[in-house]
Amino acid sequence: MKSPMPTLSNDVLPRVQPHIHLWTKLYGRNFLGWHGYRAELFVTKPDLIKEVLNNKNGLFIKAHPDKYTFKLLGNGLVIAEGKNWNRQRKLANHAFHIENLKNMVPTMAGSVENMLEKWGYHEGKEIEALEEFRVLTSDVITKTAFGSNYLEGEKIFDMLTKLTSILNANVFNIELPVIGKFLNYKSDNELEKVEKEIKESFMQIIRKRKEKKNTGELDDYGSDYLGLLINANQENDEEKRISIDDMIDECKTFYFAGQETTMGLLTWAMLLLATHTEWQEKARKEVFDIFGEKHPNTENSSMAKMKIMTMIMNETLRLYPPALNLRRTVSCEVRLGEILLPPNINIIIPPLVSHNDPQIWGEDVHLFRPDRFAEGVTKAAKNTNAYLPFGMGPRNCVGSNFATIEVKVALSMILQRYAFTLSPTYMHSPIQYITVRPQHGVQIILHPL
Ligand code: HEM
Repeated sequence: MKSPMPTLSNDVLPRVQPHIHLWTKLYGRNFLGWHGYRAELFVTKPDLIKEVLNNKNGLFIKAHPDKYTFKLLGNGLVIAEGKNWNRQRKLANHAFHIENLKNMVPTMAGSVENMLEKWGYHEGKEIEALEEFRVLTSDVITKTAFGSNYLEGEKIFDMLTKLTSILNANVFNIELPVIGKFLNYKSDNELEKVEKEIKESFMQIIRKRKEKKNTGELDDYGSDYLGLLINANQENDEEKRISIDDMIDECKTFYFAGQETTMGLLTWAMLLLATHTEWQEKARKEVFDIFGEKHPNTENSSMAKMKIMTMIMNETLRLYPPALNLRRTVSCEVRLGEILLPPNINIIIPPLVSHNDPQIWGEDVHLFRPDRFAEGVTKAAKNTNAYLPFGMGPRNCVGSNFATIEVKVALSMILQRYAFTLSPTYMHSPIQYITVRPQHGVQIILHPL
């Protein structure tokens, strides 16, 4: 991390997850490692990946998070299991159902418009894409899911950023049984403080919504995610009711999961389009063909018609998948392929490995070639189970449609207004920072059309 990569190569696995890269070379596609006292089985063979992620019998459950991840996501949907997961997944499926997403498109476009107004129309203006998209994706998730906006949610995002940084600094810490209870890392006190503040901020947002209903400003709690959560909290049926703590955890989860990942996809897509201007041109032509000068919208299934844009997003997610480790725990003794696994062993699936396998994608595996997805994922990869930017099976990403629509809206509006190139100040240094991030941001130069 001290110096950038010498070229703009997309061969980033050795840099982002050097340990996993080295170990797959030394020990093969599936191998056992240790994280402190815990055994971890790394699984990168596509068929075994499918067996783990698609399992519906509770054999491979979500791994118990370390204390830092737990503070960030609580018992929210990403972590929850059993009844809690079932109830929360239903709520989220409803809130982010494609019909509801359509209604969110104008709000998304409004947020992008605000960003572009700030960018202005000066030839040669430089922006830093990661920071721009951090604010954009924060604004979009707060407005669409919580009926609030970036400024109101800013404190929460600041706190979540602090939590992410503490989590990242401790990502390789080993939790020790018994002794661990007596160890207090320097960051732990701060962790407690930040957690309290986040909780209070969410309570304020919830109280505000309740007040609006009580004073008659709103007829009900609303049909966005926050509204559904408040309704579920007021349920008479105990089976369907969720507690205040569950609600807070769910809010944290969606603030974080809905923002961090989408910010990454947008940022890497800008880098790849800035350095592959032929694809930028193709995408721009498609956008003008479909929307002309108008804001992106869902009339006549326009979003689904964006074939080039979809190929570009798929290829970006292949080369720079935001979620770097999918974790599970074996709940009871089970056979996985040829391996007999004891209970409690952790399984780690790192998508970057199978996304970079020349046997699956061909010798041009490290090149940005969106056309490999011209006929969908099935034709792009020798084994479709190797492609998992949004995971797979029952625990796949509940926000994947939301994210793809948001990215289509944002990139379309950018392409309608600007051509863009990479600034000479850019340093290529992808790192693992919970998700895969450009260490020094992505500096882009704008050329208004
Ligand atoms: C490009 C954007 C995104 C990527 C690459 C992404 C990736 C993923 C992946 C790989 C998983 C599966 C994790 C596992 O199997 O352990 C997942 C789950 C999840 N994602 Fe996303 N995500 C994105 C956007 C979003 C958005 C926008 C939201 C919310 C609005 C969201 C909410 C969630 C939630 C709640 C889960 C857990 C689902 C469950 O366990 O039932 N994600 N995501």
